[in-house]
Amino acid sequence: TRNGVDFAVADLSLAEFGRKEIRLAEHEMPGLMALRREYAEVYPLRGARISGSLHMTVQTAVLIETLVALGAEVRWCSCNIFSTQDHAAAAVVVGPHGTEEEPKGVPVYAWKGETLDEYWWATEKMMTWPDGAGPNMILDDGGDATLLVHKGVQYEKAGVVPNAEDDDSEEWKIILETLRASLAADTGKWTKIAEGIRGVTEETTTGVLRLYQLAAAGELLFPAINVNDSVTKSKFDNRYGIRHSLIDGINRGTDVLIAGKVAVVCGYGDVGKGSAESLRGQGARVVVTEIDPICALQALMDGYEVRSLEEIVEQADIIITTTGNKDVVSADHMSRMKHQAILGNVGHFDNELDMAGLARVPGIHRINIKPQVDEWVFPDGHSIIVLSEGRLMNLGNATGHPSFVMSNSFSNQVIAQVELFTKHQEYDNEVYRLPKKLDEKVARIHVEALGGTITKLSKDQAEYIGVDPEGPFKPEHYRY
Ligand code: NAI
Repeated sequence: TRNGVDFAVADLSLAEFGRKEIRLAEHEMPGLMALRREYAEVYPLRGARISGSLHMTVQTAVLIETLVALGAEVRWCSCNIFSTQDHAAAAVVVGPHGTEEEPKGVPVYAWKGETLDEYWWATEKMMTWPDGAGPNMILDDGGDATLLVHKGVQYEKAGVVPNAEDDDSEEWKIILETLRASLAADTGKWTKIAEGIRGVTEETTTGVLRLYQLAAAGELLFPAINVNDSVTKSKFDNRYGIRHSLIDGINRGTDVLIAGKVAVVCGYGDVGKGSAESLRGQGARVVVTEIDPICALQALMDGYEVRSLEEIVEQADIIITTTGNKDVVSADHMSRMKHQAILGNVGHFDNELDMAGLARVPGIHRINIKPQVDEWVFPDGHSIIVLSEGRLMNLGNATGHPSFVMSNSFSNQVIAQVELFTKHQEYDNEVYRLPKKLDEKVARIHVEALGGTITKLSKDQAEYIGVDPEGPFKPEHYRY
């Protein structure tokens, strides 16, 4: 704690560099800046205590400072052990008006290269407010903050201190350890926190899936807004964001020529479509794997080959997983890859790749080339290059999606936070999406920023196609 701001970041002296990049990013994030102008002097988030778990990057810094500009108090951690940009974290702690000696910003618990223990420690710190009060809002990416509260409440209700034997995954043991101290103290900490939460706004496909599962089981403890399925989020960030940051990660991690190589993209959803385009843009010969015939057909019509990983694994120079599913690339697949083939994942969790299985291959050894790049050498002498230990490599090996596309996503986040914070009584413990009108508003700001001209619908035309001349312009079932 310095000057009343508690934090854990890598190096506060990086704040000045962070501030310069935040200043450049603000210009590239017109949606967030428009919301700051729209709500200037209104402070719709006054009284909000937002606990946020989302990649602590330069773009996220602009999001955090927008929430503060709208009146919120904020605490933050990253939702991935490798995704923090240390200069952005430092700048957020120092704040626009503070100094390294006298920080005046937001408590941040995030640095690049956390261990899993540190990650969950940071998540608990982010959820724990100094005065003993909890947050009254969560802003989540992947659902780990929401998971921690739900697990805490579940164990408090059952009146048990969790036993690490309950689950055999390493990460799960750490989550339970994180909860153990507060549960043993028997203060009802998590139940109190959950009762105070007005809602959560969730950023990504995987987190949204977790929320729908909780809601279906009747276990969701507060209302949720699914930000991911705003059209101006998943059809832009997931797709055009990854189109930028996937090859950025491959280039920074390996500097290998992509042109002419066989690149396999597992999954052809929004992230897969952007990934395939990213690799094709570099001249790779792209092959897609899919389980869904509709997405497989889309891939074929977009001009990609569609194969099973079984068929293609030996020919691949690069394999990228984008499925949000588990066990997509097995240790056996990895052992069959070419010498020095590259393996990376951009789905939310690392369980798409069987990293544990790889480490268990008899006689295998790992050579760390540089942070977030490892060569795994098989007993027969051939090796593969694994990026970011199988975790989101566009954030681990590069800096994630660029500002302009994140301005779309984060505008939806801010709108969703304001909506749930100010109107929480109107929502049940279910998962909601933002109205299309707001989606169109976010899009309009960014069309104007890019200098596009939107054609105005005449009253006559509007009547003919059955919409209001001011929008929404499409029915709910339209898919874009
Ligand atoms: P999506 O649901 O649109 O796409 C996933 C696709 O994978 C689906 O088409 C599905 O049929 C396919 N799939 C599932 N299991 C498969 C298997 N075993 N083999 C081949 N294909 C399979 O989801 P979206 O939005 O594309 O997100 C995918 C993942 O990426 C999620 O975990 C999401 O949270 C994450 N994400 C990552 C970002 C990043 O910056 N790295 C940005 C946005 C999302």
